[in-house]
Amino acid sequence: MVVTVRSLGLNGIAGYAVSAECFLSGGLPAFDIVGLPDAAVREARERVRAAVKNCGAKFPVSRITVNLAPAGQKKAGTVYDLPIFVGLLAAGRELPPPAQQAAFIGELSLTGALRGVTGVLPMALAARDAGVKELYVPAENAAEATLAGGLTVYGVPDVGALVRHLRGEERLSPASAWVPEAEEAAGPDLRDVMGQENARRALEIAAAGGHNLLLIGSPGAGKSMLAKRLPSILPDMSREEALEVSGIWSVAGLADPQHPLLTRRPFRSPHHTASAAALTGGGPLLRPGEISLAHNGVLFLDELPEFHRDVLEAMRQPLEDGTVTVARSGGTLHLPARFQLVCAMNPCRCGWRGHPSGRCTCSDREVAKYVEKISGPLLDRIDLHVSVPAVEYASMRRKETPESSADVKCRVDAARAVQTARFAGTGVTCNAHMTAPMIGQFCRLDHAGDALMKSAFERMGLTARSHDRILRVARTIADLDGAADIRPEHLAEAIQFRNTDILKG
Ligand SMILES: Nc1ncnc2c1ncn2[C@@H]1O[C@H](COP(=O)(O)OP(=O)(O)OP(=O)(O)O)[C@@H](O)[C@H]1O
Ligand SMILES: [Mg+2]
Repeated sequence: MVVTVRSLGLNGIAGYAVSAECFLSGGLPAFDIVGLPDAAVREARERVRAAVKNCGAKFPVSRITVNLAPAGQKKAGTVYDLPIFVGLLAAGRELPPPAQQAAFIGELSLTGALRGVTGVLPMALAARDAGVKELYVPAENAAEATLAGGLTVYGVPDVGALVRHLRGEERLSPASAWVPEAEEAAGPDLRDVMGQENARRALEIAAAGGHNLLLIGSPGAGKSMLAKRLPSILPDMSREEALEVSGIWSVAGLADPQHPLLTRRPFRSPHHTASAAALTGGGPLLRPGEISLAHNGVLFLDELPEFHRDVLEAMRQPLEDGTVTVARSGGTLHLPARFQLVCAMNPCRCGWRGHPSGRCTCSDREVAKYVEKISGPLLDRIDLHVSVPAVEYASMRRKETPESSADVKCRVDAARAVQTARFAGTGVTCNAHMTAPMIGQFCRLDHAGDALMKSAFERMGLTARSHDRILRVARTIADLDGAADIRPEHLAEAIQFRNTDILKG
């Protein structure tokens, strides 16, 4: 007889429905799994065999064939252990056939305990969309599975408990929906940053419009400190955004079982020795890269010129499209990667160029060579270029405490509310992502603004892309100001943030 058990698989970061068909037939005892299984799936045979024996059920003495449908799609990982286990016992009449609206995922240990798996959230979402009503997952993943909503989730501790539940002897209780605790630990606050008014203003503009930012300054000026405080002034994520990025983290194996939903925007800061693959993702098991883990959040590249050239080049396309294309056997796959880029660098190799102490020992040629390491196309994609000078002694000793992140966030939220209304129904969420027609519609300049732009364009040798980026930033500055139109002073500030001496060579 054939028993079909519903399950789920992962294709990149998206879940899809899988059926495990178990067939017992006469002939010499054997156990085959078909449907393009990888080595881990094939090894399910050994885990299932041991788990069946250890839970006291009878292992069928027949020729066993398991087909994982759709059979043309490659199956990877260990989530199919549980559906195969259930199918096998049901085919051997040790269990009643599972309900049609039930689905199973989970890895078995030889003792019959269930082990947590990765990617549960996207699989639970796919289950819900496929009409599944009951989802059985390892106990460790139960909280995560409830995030999908619309499912009765059973967290299974071990196969013995599952067998008793399915036989109706002792029911498992459904997992309760996971909700975040009211008090979340706060990240670092802008209150700690003394002085640096110009850089603080740039950070606020970047947060308000979702713009990319480059901080340039001597060691100890507070660049890393400022960058780490960007998430504290970014608007809260919507539920959809949080689910999207939590799903990516789950596939990467970074989900916290106790706290499966990311409620704060991610902040990723890969080391400068990271490879291009670590940034963009890929590999045989398709691990999302840093730029996908930073989706809906911030990617911080500290010491920008130290990154390998190919790493920076690999980010060019994602910065433009918000997705990254990774090659894999049998085709390519697109992963979401809409992140806000923040970079920090010293102005030269020794780091002290422009410092009042005059300690810099680099020649002009050396400075030019150092700056050249970051390519023009990447710089062109960064909207705000900000000089972060050494903090003056007077600012450090000032009595009054600087403005807190909460106060800045209020202004950012107000500016974002204007943008949300402006872009309603277009899929665009902030000024930084405006398309060319939107720029034409929302970034009109008056006569004086037009003249200012023309002179900057010619004087600074701007590209068409940087021209558009300046207009997006100007739109954000006007939004922070509560202005309907971009006025010349808004534009002037936007232009000034693209005009750092050091990058002019
Ligand atoms: N504006 C500031 N207000 C208060 N403290 C500051 C400020 N700038 C720097 N500091 C102090 O100096 C330390 C180093 O700052 P930070 O790491 O941000 O410097 P940096 O500009 O990133 O330097 P580097 O170029 O060496 O990476 C901070 O941890 C903080 O204690
Ligand atoms: Mg630093």
